[in-house]
Amino acid sequence: MLEGKKIVLGVTGSIAAYKAAFLVRLMVKAGANVKVIMTPAAKDFVAPLTFSTLSKNPVLVEFSTTDGSWNNHVELANWADMILIAPASANTIGKLALGLCDNLLLATVFSAACPIYVAPAMDREMYVNSSIKNNISILSKQHYFIIPSEEGELASGLYGEGRMAEPEHIIRFIIENHSKTLPLYGKTALVTAGPTYEAIDPVRFIGNHSSGKMGFHIAEALAAKGASVKLVHGPVNISTHNSSIKTIGVTSAEEMHKECTRLFAGTDITVMTAAVADFKLVKVASKKIKKKDASLHLELIPNPDILSELGKQKNNKQLLIGFALETNDEIKNATEKLKRKNLDAIILNSMQTEGAGPGGDTNKITIIDRQNKTIHFELKPKNIVANDVVNYIIECFKR
Ligand code: PMT
Repeated sequence: MLEGKKIVLGVTGSIAAYKAAFLVRLMVKAGANVKVIMTPAAKDFVAPLTFSTLSKNPVLVEFSTTDGSWNNHVELANWADMILIAPASANTIGKLALGLCDNLLLATVFSAACPIYVAPAMDREMYVNSSIKNNISILSKQHYFIIPSEEGELASGLYGEGRMAEPEHIIRFIIENHSKTLPLYGKTALVTAGPTYEAIDPVRFIGNHSSGKMGFHIAEALAAKGASVKLVHGPVNISTHNSSIKTIGVTSAEEMHKECTRLFAGTDITVMTAAVADFKLVKVASKKIKKKDASLHLELIPNPDILSELGKQKNNKQLLIGFALETNDEIKNATEKLKRKNLDAIILNSMQTEGAGPGGDTNKITIIDRQNKTIHFELKPKNIVANDVVNYIIECFKR
C-alpha cells in the first residue's frame, strides 16, 4: 500500500526521534518516497544526515535555505500523499491544536489536504496531563488521525503510557486506516484473466494469445482502491504479489467455470477479461496423436459460457462487466453480448485497432452500458486502461 506513496515525515523534539530513522527505513523499503521535515528542536536528538541518508532526500528544517531560496511549504503539502508526524511532541501537538505556525513542519501541515497522522511521544505525566490530553482530543476531533501511544519503559525511567508506538505498529495503523478511506473498501471483486487451454492430447492444446496483462492490471487497480480481489486466471507468465489479491490458477474453461460459479455469489464486482475458449474437444486423446498422412479431424463441442451463467445468477446489487474482443461490427456485436449476457457494462476492444487487444502492453477500449451510453478512450498502457475501468466502476457505485 505504501508503494509509490509520497510521504512527508515530520520529526519533532523528542527522545523518540531515533525511532523515526527506523520508520524511514520501513517506508522506503515498502517503496515510498519519503521527505523528512525536522523541527529545530528535533536536531538536538538526531542529526539530519541520518534522515537524508536513509530517505535519499534532503532534510528540510528552515523556511529559507543557505543559497537564498526557500522551502515552499505549500508545494511540500501538495506533493505529499500523506503526512506523518512521528514523534509528535507535546509542544507540536499544542501548536497544531491552537493553529500556531512558527516552523516549516507546522506550515506544511496547515497547508495540506492529505491525511495527517500524529504519533504522540512524551513522558507519562505529560501524556496524562489534562491540557495535553485536551490538545490531543482537539486534533482527533479534527481531520488528524492519532496513532495511540503505547505503554512501556520511558526515557525518564518511569513505566507507563506515552511511549511513541513502535515503527511497525505505526506502519500497520496507517495501512489499515488508509484502506478504510478507499472508495472500494469493503467490496469484493472477482476478475478473470488470461487464456484457457483445451487439451487435444497430453501434449497439445487449443489456446489463444491472451497474456493475462489486462486482467492482472484490473485486479491491481481494484485492490489499489481498497477492494479484496479474487483473480481466476488461465496459464500466464505474470504474477502479482499484492496481498489484497488472491490468485487462483486454472487451465481449461471448465475449470474457470467451476471457480467463477463457486466465487460469484459473494462478490460485489465481477470483471471478466479472460479469453475463454468457446469450444473444447468431445474426447481428449489419452496418448499423443501420431502424425498421419490423412488430415486430422477434431470434434468440438461448446464450453459453458461463464459470463452468461453469471448474468443469469446476478442480483441487482452485483456489478457484472464483460469484455468483448471483436474484429468487425464492433459496437453492434458488443452491445448484443451485453444484452444477451445480462451485463451492466461491456468493454469493447477491437482487433482492428493497432496496439489494442491480446498480448501487447497497450489497449484501446470503449465502455458500453445498459442504456447504450458509450465512453471512448484513447490507446493507453494497460495499467492506465485498468485505472479507467476501475474509475468507471467507482462511479457506478455512486449512482
Ligand atoms: O490478456 P491480454 O493479453 O492483456 O489481452 C486482453 C484481452 C484482449 C484478452 C481482453 O481485453 C479481452 O478482450 N477479453 C475478452 C476476450 C473474449 O473472449 O471476448 P469474447 O467477446 O469472446 O467474450 C465476451 C465475454 O464473455 C468476455 O468477458 C469473456 O471473458 C466471456 N466469456 C466468453 C466465452 C466463454 N465461454 N465464457 C465467457 O465467460
